[in-house]
Amino acid sequence: MKTINSPNGKIVIVIFSFLISLYLLSENSHPFLSCKSENITIKKDSIVPWQVPEISSIADNTEGTEIKLGKSIFVDTYRYIGPDVKDVSKRFAGTNMDCQNCHLKAGTLKNVFGLIGTYTRYPEMDTRSGKIINIQERINNCLMRSMNGKAMPEDSKEMKALVAYIKWLSIYVPKGTRTEEQGIPKIQLLSRAADTSSGRMVYLGKCMTCHSEDGEGALNIPGNIDVPADSMKGYDYPPVYGEFSYNEGAGMYKLLTAASFIYSKMPYHYSELTVEESYDVAAFINSKSRPVFKDAGKDYPDLKLKPIDSPFPPYSDSFTQLQHKYGPYGPMLKEGEKSIMIKPE
Ligand code: HEC
Ligand code: HEC
Repeated sequence: MKTINSPNGKIVIVIFSFLISLYLLSENSHPFLSCKSENITIKKDSIVPWQVPEISSIADNTEGTEIKLGKSIFVDTYRYIGPDVKDVSKRFAGTNMDCQNCHLKAGTLKNVFGLIGTYTRYPEMDTRSGKIINIQERINNCLMRSMNGKAMPEDSKEMKALVAYIKWLSIYVPKGTRTEEQGIPKIQLLSRAADTSSGRMVYLGKCMTCHSEDGEGALNIPGNIDVPADSMKGYDYPPVYGEFSYNEGAGMYKLLTAASFIYSKMPYHYSELTVEESYDVAAFINSKSRPVFKDAGKDYPDLKLKPIDSPFPPYSDSFTQLQHKYGPYGPMLKEGEKSIMIKPE
């Protein structure tokens, strides 16, 4: 106190405040310094490149055998846990689809639900259930929804193998780091609702040849598979609607997710659709009948965290269910979020 009252003390305080103001100003306005503070945030969870481990690096031991089994289950799911396998107790998936029908190239392809870095993030807060879930629960979510099946016990051989494989996919993504190419890219917003009748025309012209006229896909011809399988009924082209497709609780049943996936990757190997065609055809396939998921309305217990394209009420806003299902989404974005691009959840 004494020093403050003395003339020297005042000078010290004035100089001190001046230096503080300079510092604050520079933090907010100086490009170099703000760049520096960004670096500090990134350091907390640094970004590592999308690096796919080499299959040849899998050791020839018990652990390696489990990883390889996990990969086979991921790629040929129907042979191990499909609805037609001989051992009835192993029929966990409700369809003969494979995990890689959506997680392309055994989950190694970036920007299409690739799983490099997934293992590192779990356990993770899951807004859909409103709780923290582990990797086994996340896999079971895909089994119950995307594959219209039932949950697999966490200690089953098949679950352990899938987890071992997914863990191995992240060997170059240690704790405290992450990849940037997970999930699916942002897609441009349409200023209109998606149109299922235009979508039907896109489907007939550009999808039907592979996914078939009734959306049920095409099973492979048993003679064509080189490995003797327990169940022979995998798909050459997976179903996109109908009783063997993903159910209404699946991520793909949300318009933005489906439109973005289709825009980036379909028709397979060509990806030649416009943004509008992608929305319309996604709306068309999701307007057709598919298995229900009875608890879909209970998803996202915190309504404020519900994705705008969730087709099931209740909602925290006053837009109709139809607008949530088909858009337009622009008006639903909150102030400050306005953008022509949107990231599907
Ligand atoms: C040349 C054949 C071909 C065409 C044409 C094609 N797809 Fe696919 N599609 C595939 C294959 C193959 C997969 C599975 C990918 C894998 O297993 O690697 C797939 C996967 C999908 C999936 C995810 C899995 C599922 O069944 O739900 C959707 C959705 C899909 N396609 C939609 C479309 C739409 C919409 C079109 C038309 C714009 C289209 N596809 C055109 C071959 C094709
Ligand atoms: C019909 C398409 C589809 C099929 C089939 C499918 N999934 Fe998924 N999966 C998704 C979608 C969509 C997501 C959400 C992606 C996201 O949140 O970025 C997802 C997410 C995941 C995640 C979490 C990814 C992350 O980084 O948080 C895991 C793990 C996963 N799936 C595993 C599997 C396994 C194992 C199978 C097979 C048993 C499977 N999936 C089958 C569509 C599918």
